Order: sequence, then structure tokens, then C-alpha cells
Amino acid sequence: MASAAPSTESGRPIDAQDVRRMFDRIAPTYDLLNGVLSFGLNRVWESRLVRSLPSDPQATVLDLCTGTGALVPRLARRCARVVAADISPQMLAQGRRRCSTVATCDWVEADAQALPFEDGIFDAVAVSYGIRNVPDRLQALREVLRVSKPGATLAILEFGQARNRLWRALFGLYARFVIPAVGALISGERAAYEYLPRTSAAFPCGEGFERLLKEAGWMPVKTTPLSGGVAYLYVARKANP
Ligand SMILES: C[S@@+](CC[C@H](N)C(=O)[O-])C[C@H]1O[C@@H](n2cnc3c(N)ncnc32)[C@H](O)[C@@H]1O
Repeated sequence: MASAAPSTESGRPIDAQDVRRMFDRIAPTYDLLNGVLSFGLNRVWESRLVRSLPSDPQATVLDLCTGTGALVPRLARRCARVVAADISPQMLAQGRRRCSTVATCDWVEADAQALPFEDGIFDAVAVSYGIRNVPDRLQALREVLRVSKPGATLAILEFGQARNRLWRALFGLYARFVIPAVGALISGERAAYEYLPRTSAAFPCGEGFERLLKEAGWMPVKTTPLSGGVAYLYVARKANP
């Protein structure tokens, strides 16, 4: 199955460097806007993701598309080492500052589509609100599989489309009008805050994403709609040989 890539205003498919530049620009106000626009719900969903990964004092966990490291302190309390990887140096810089007291985290600039890690080194992988921004999601999921140990758990939190029609319509209005307006006001980057809800609305959530996980070689374990399907938590496992 091909993973549809969003396009620029000129019609050219958005590539990973376009996405990197966009996140570099919004990095300084990213955390503030995240909290404001999600009414703090993001923290609740993220806690679900962290709890879906095994707690193991020996484990090394990859937080892919880590951004400003929202998951890092919570992951670090449950494992030996966190590797926080992201394509945007500015998001990583914010993350390093925000998580300066977390001594067990390495920060790595990396494209999810070509990870700079050896095969089979991670016990678990977390990805929050990152996968929909990757142009070739299938390739990224294959890369994550490659760098994971047999039996490793993958937990992905991503926006989707609410299942109830009224809720979907209300959230659609919020995403179409409120998110770009507030995003523009606080960050000055209206286009980024139009792109983010647009990609959420187009993301193949639920069974569609489970199919992509399977195609990449993952075994989906559990898919949980959150807040009526505004977001989804996917948990998958790498098979033991
Ligand atoms: C919406 S933010 C989420 C950040 C963080 N995980 C959180 O929960 O707040 C998406 C992140 O994915 C990163 N990203 C997008 N495409 C990427 C790619 N191809 N490889 C690695 N990181 C990528 C962006 O730079 C950005 O920091």
C-alpha cells in the first residue's frame, strides 16, 4: 500500500526537509501551543502511550520524532536509557533544554526514513504525533522494525478522525478555524498550523494504519481510539524468530 504524501501549495509532494524546516520554525512556541490547543489532553494521551510500553530498568527505548522531548522524562523513569531522535535540530535544542535534568537521554538528529542505528538495539519504540509527518511512513515503520530487538514493543500515538459524526464535525471546525488562527497568533506560522490539522484529517487511522503496520512487518497488538477517535494509540510487537 502506498502512503499518500501531502503536497506543497505548488503541488510538489512535501519531503522530509520541508517538514524539518517547518518544525525548526515553530520550535520556540511548540510546547506553549501544544498545551493551549489540546487543553492539556495531549498529556493524558501521552501517559497512555508511556504506560503501554513495558517498564524495564535494563531497557533502551527509542523516542522517535521526539520533538521537544515531551515523552522523555516519563520514559526515562521506566528504562535504563532513552534515545530521543528527530529530524529538526531546533526541536531537539528545545528538548535538550526542557529535559536538562534527564541524564539518561541521548539526543540524535535523524530522519525516521533512514535511521542511523544498528539493527536490533531497541527494546521499545515510542512515536507521538510524529508518524503522520513522515513522507514515506511504510519505510519509517520498516526502519523502526530493523532497529528493534525481536519481541520489542512499538507504541504510536497519532491523530485520527472521530467516529461520531457530530463530534467529527465539531472537531473539524476547531481544526480548520481555531487551530490556524491561534497558531498564527502565537507562532506567526499560520501555514504550519494549517498543515498540521490537514494531515490529521487525512491520516489513515484505525484499521488503515494497522494494515500499514502489518505491511511493514509489525504484529498489531491493540488499537485504542482516544477521546472518541480524535487520536489513536497503536501498540504493535516485533515477532520473535
Ligand atoms: C508534532 S511533533 C511531535 C513531537 C513530540 N513527539 C510530541 O509528542 O510533542 C512531530 C515531530 O516529528 C518530527 N519529524 C517529522 N518528520 C520526521 C522525520 N522524517 N524523521 C524524524 N523526525 C521527524 C518533527 O521534526 C517534529 O519534531
